[in-house]
Amino acid sequence: MANQQYDVVVIGAGPGGYIAAIRAAQLGLKTACVEKWRNPKGELALGGTCLNVGCIPSKALLASSEEFDNIAHHAGDHGITVTGASIDVGRMQARKDAVVTKMTKGIEFLFRKNKITWLKGHGAFDGRAEDGTIRVKVSGEGADEVVDAKNVIVATGSKARHLPGVTTDNVLVCDNEGALAFPEVPKRLGVIGAGVIGLELGSVWRRLGAEVTVLEALPSFLAAADETVAKEAWKLFTKQGLAIHLGAKIGEITVSQGGEGKGQGEGKGGGGKGGGGKGDAGKAGGVSIAWTDAQGAAQTLDVDRLIVSIGRIPNTDGLNAEAVGLAITDRGMVEADEQCRTNVPGIWAIGDVVRGAMLAHKAEDEGVMVAELIAGQKPHIDYDCIPWVIYTSPEIAWVGKTEQQLKAEGRAYRAGQFPFAANGRALGMNAPDGFVKVLADAQTDQILGVHVVAATASDLIAEAAVAMEFKASSEDIARICHPHPSMSEVMREAALAVDKRALNM
Ligand code: FAD
Ligand code: NAI
Repeated sequence: MANQQYDVVVIGAGPGGYIAAIRAAQLGLKTACVEKWRNPKGELALGGTCLNVGCIPSKALLASSEEFDNIAHHAGDHGITVTGASIDVGRMQARKDAVVTKMTKGIEFLFRKNKITWLKGHGAFDGRAEDGTIRVKVSGEGADEVVDAKNVIVATGSKARHLPGVTTDNVLVCDNEGALAFPEVPKRLGVIGAGVIGLELGSVWRRLGAEVTVLEALPSFLAAADETVAKEAWKLFTKQGLAIHLGAKIGEITVSQGGEGKGQGEGKGGGGKGGGGKGDAGKAGGVSIAWTDAQGAAQTLDVDRLIVSIGRIPNTDGLNAEAVGLAITDRGMVEADEQCRTNVPGIWAIGDVVRGAMLAHKAEDEGVMVAELIAGQKPHIDYDCIPWVIYTSPEIAWVGKTEQQLKAEGRAYRAGQFPFAANGRALGMNAPDGFVKVLADAQTDQILGVHVVAATASDLIAEAAVAMEFKASSEDIARICHPHPSMSEVMREAALAVDKRALNM
């Protein structure tokens, strides 16, 4: 029997892959998507890292922990008396799981609606058919199936980077998957890596009562963010009780299982040493981290659980890229140009598996772009206009250049900054922390970067992204009517401040 033929086969159904499949189907292309993800119940699920163990569950837990923090510690500010506020972690996790299921089932519905075939299993290249189309083998669910495609979009995403020699059991030593599923609040939580995951998930468990210690290798905090933002974030997060140590060098990591120990028992790692062993009956399990501080002094951190959040690596293992001559970099990424074309005509790659920011909305936009390119359209992504958000409290968001980048480029700019403490809506909402900073070209006034620390920074930054896409000037934002009272007025005031004419300061 001849293989099924498709115009487009997408490998991976994360935000890059499922969006690419939907857009391709909208454009009338016969489309299939290969996906193998199994959720903790053992069911196959669409949605990738983002929906299953990334953006969506982390934001659900962030919201729950913020509710708890507001009720337990800030209700009194509104004259509301609450006594005995407590958290049922099981119910909080069940709510998060329900949000995830709703979202992943939603994509199954979208696939049916758009007539996209879900090929269930692992996808790998299998050479070419006689007519030159690309062969993809799908294995995992019963018999292997081979399909032929005019175009293949690799959207296989990424996985957590682990410390060499340290076993991640996702019980005591956790990556994002374990860190999103703690069954109770750890008394002492260690986090290695003060990046986005470390700060977001560290904040979740801190707000619920854990003592959180974060060990970061770099000597500076939030190196990718604007320096003013990083300084403000440091002040706010340390005030919230996150103990963050910069310039930390991780040494040996020792894991001891409790009496009811699960996983692999005792293990040692760090510095390349592996481990295994037996549980220690009658004792609570824990993790001991030997580390050296920025001054060179030897330190030990003993915690009940450890989150390792030191970045992510692209998923290209098992793709059988050699079968079609697909170029993979020495860091495991699929090589792709700005339009996500690989070295092989007809094979495209998007999202976390290619260069650039590992962000869901970047993956989605690349998915749309590639589907439209395949259909003969002329789409374009301005990579300078992709916003970043860290969903701490307050949130941190930015788009475009930081002040230190502009200085390094020798570009003349003007900066305007305005605090939320001078905004009526922010005070009414009990959210006075943070500011908006607008950076604009000194000659043309074109906006080059916008940086926000605010309770609602994730929503506010969208205005800045639109402005930058339209090559707006700070004067444009300053002249546009913004609703009163609203957090967005601070964006306008910061734009006015570029020309030193903020009104409410
Ligand atoms: P993925 O979402 O990783 O999906 C890839 C899919 O491909 C997976 O389902 C995988 O099973 C499948 N796959 C891989 N290989 C094969 C194969 N050979 N055959 C079949 N299927 C295969 N980004 C944001 O923008 N905002 C956030 O708030 C945010 N929060 C995050 C929180 C956490 C804890 C984490 C870990 C990440 C977060 N991210 C966030 C990053 C975001 O999740 C990723 O950038 C995004 O998921 C990348 O999408 P993708 O489609 O490239 O890959
Ligand atoms: P990250 O790259 O954000 O941060 C990793 C941190 O670990 C860095 O500060 C790095 O210096 C540090 N580090 C690396 N090796 C170390 C070591 N051996 N010891 C101590 N520190 C070490 O990576 P993270 O937090 O794992 O997240 C991965 C990616 O997922 C992010 O870069 C982002 O692309 C995405 N993500 C996005 C979110 C969002 O958009 N809100 C939320 C969570 C993740």
